[in-house]
Amino acid sequence: MPKDIEKKKPGKKTMPATVIGVDIGGTGIKGGIVNLEKGVIVGDRYRVPTPKPSTPEAVAAVVADIVAELSSRPEGPSEDVPVGVTFPAIIQHGVARSAANVDKSWVDTDVDALFTKVLGRDVRVINDADAAGLAEVRYGAGKGELGTVLVITLGTGIGSAFIFDGRLVPNVELGHLEIDGHDAETKASAVARERDGIGWNEYTVRLQRYFSHVEFLFSPELIIVGGGISKRSGDYLPGLKLRTPIIPAQLKNQAGIVGGALQAAILLEPKKA
Ligand code: BGC
Repeated sequence: MPKDIEKKKPGKKTMPATVIGVDIGGTGIKGGIVNLEKGVIVGDRYRVPTPKPSTPEAVAAVVADIVAELSSRPEGPSEDVPVGVTFPAIIQHGVARSAANVDKSWVDTDVDALFTKVLGRDVRVINDADAAGLAEVRYGAGKGELGTVLVITLGTGIGSAFIFDGRLVPNVELGHLEIDGHDAETKASAVARERDGIGWNEYTVRLQRYFSHVEFLFSPELIIVGGGISKRSGDYLPGLKLRTPIIPAQLKNQAGIVGGALQAAILLEPKKA
């Protein structure tokens, strides 16, 4: 058994104490060692700018550097613990099936196989918003919530995680709902706000249109808003009129790393009978 596989109660789940999580974004690739019991990053995060162009080979080399640095730290997990990686596209069985905000050469790339080969160790890849969603329902703003919880991340694009009774329904792409003839993320993402130079009031109007539609389609119990802009939630959440509670994410910029690590560990848990 690897040195850091912690035995919990006999016959119950086994989880590694720490797992490396890496969050691939449009501007930066960030990694950290995650304590899975607490859902926090141990020590400093390690960040490298996303290479340009962000081709699969160039990104894989950066991920390998980050994992090597984190592994060299005393609190790093042993080599046989998988690394969890998030990616900003549809990831089905480890393969990228879209590339809205990344280099188009990713489409149909087996990201899992590529990273596993380049890193020389087991890697598990998940969509970035799905990772953030898992982290929020396990450790953050959605902890203990039953029914449908939607985690919507506002960043370069709009990411979404659909969670029902704590279980993730992967690859639900609610950032690409077509609203008023537009792909929603081109109007309501954080980057769309900056690009169009609009203030918080005007942005709130766009978010109202977006979240009303999402609410109408899914009638969730709770909506959690993540992404870098969740730090400024006081500027737009109070202005939204919805019947669903809508609250900021709690893990902020750690959600991707923590959720990426968590999903790699969840796959180690024994399947329920
Ligand atoms: C992608 C999603 C991703 C989101 C946030 C969207 O454009 O289609 O897969 O989760 O951006 O990065």
